[in-house]
Parts: sequence; C-alpha cells; structure tokens
Amino acid sequence: MRLDRFLCEMNIGTRSQVKALIRQGAVRVNDIPVKNADRKINPDLDQVFYKGQRLQYRRYVYYMMNKPAGIVSATVDGVSDTVLSLLEENQRKNVFPVGRLDKDTTGLLLLTNDGALAHRLLAPERHVDKVYQVTLEHPLSEADICRLEEGVDIGDETFTGPALVKVLDRYLILLTIQEGRYHQVKRMMFAVGNGVVKLGRVAFGGLHLDPALAEGQYRELTPKEIELLSGAGQPKK
Ligand code: URA
Repeated sequence: MRLDRFLCEMNIGTRSQVKALIRQGAVRVNDIPVKNADRKINPDLDQVFYKGQRLQYRRYVYYMMNKPAGIVSATVDGVSDTVLSLLEENQRKNVFPVGRLDKDTTGLLLLTNDGALAHRLLAPERHVDKVYQVTLEHPLSEADICRLEEGVDIGDETFTGPALVKVLDRYLILLTIQEGRYHQVKRMMFAVGNGVVKLGRVAFGGLHLDPALAEGQYRELTPKEIELLSGAGQPKK
C-alpha cells in the first residue's frame, strides 16, 4: 500500500494534506524519515510513525449501532437517511450493515467492512441466533407459541425454521430465530393471526445490544465481542 494512502486510511488527512506532511518529514517508516508519498509499505509489518506516534493499522472496523426507526439499513437510499449517515464521515469508508432491519425496526445492527465475517453471520446454514423483542397486537395463545416454535407458513416455499418464544408480558415477547427472511418476524406473527406493534432486535450472534447506547448511537466492538462474533453460528453437524 502507498504511504499516502495508508495515512489517509488512518484519518491523518486528505491525500494532498498527507502528501504535504510526508514532504515536511513528519512521517517515519521503521524509524527512517520518508519523504516520498508513493513509498510502498506493508501495513501489517512496517511500523509507521506520524509526529513520533505509532499508527496502528486496522484493516477491519466493527460497530454496534442501536438503529433508530425511520432510517434504512442500507449504504445508499434515494429517499431516506441510511444508517451510514449516522456514522462520523471518516468512519464510513467501505462500511456496510450486516443484514437488514426494516425502516421501522430499532435495535442492534452491526456495521463493518469485513465482508467475510458478514457473510458468515448471514449464511443460513450457520444458524446464527437473532433475538427480537416484539410488542404484539394481541397476547399469544399456547397453540400460537407452539406453531411459531415449530415453524409457520409465511407464504414462502418452506415453513420458517425452529424458533424460540419467551413471553415477557401479555403483549411482549422475545423471539429467537436463525433465519433472516424478508419481514420475517412480522410475517410470522401474521401467520398466527397477530400483528407487530413495535419491533426491536436485542441480540445477534451472541452479542447483546449495549443498554448504554441510545437509539441512533453506536460504538466500536471490543476485541472480545469481535471474537465472540467470529465464532458465532459454527456450522451444525
Ligand atoms: N423481521 C421483520 O419483520 N423485520 C425486521 O426488521 C427484522 C426481522
């Protein structure tokens, strides 16, 4: 990678700003001042110092967001604001949401530039748990719960896979599913003659929504959380 590109990716400045800084001798590579911006470096091996500070390269970034309602979970949208617009401008590059939540759904959304991890988390055969808190139009009967847990006909080729229902209150449940079909939770409730008043995702791949995050806020994942996600949904034997 070119040195000027590395510095841009580390948010030191724009391409022309970092070129000027390099010319001024503010950058050292492996303790040697480097004045040519096109110098090739290996970000994983070379040690780059800017004004004496080591710049630690991170290829991938991982954010947990508490998605608010009214925002679409896409990278671009001609009409509505996207979840990317909630990130600081310098944090958006190549970042995308891992899967989608409906515009009116709130809660845990992961954003990353790590395509391989996103692919693993979304692969149907990995059976990664997604937990939704659902405010219902009507209380669920025992029979409804059994049907939801066994799988229901939501108009697709196949019934939904096994789910888990935990009743929190007459109108409030936690629903754990391992699929991510279009409007799945709403269609599952519709299949048992119910409706969704409010929907929020509270967990994904073993990761729980940080209660310190208000809607619209986000934070970086900790190394432990990244490790947890990396092991999420190992293929079932
Ligand atoms: N199921 C839905 O119906 N909507 C979501 O946003 C997520 C799951």
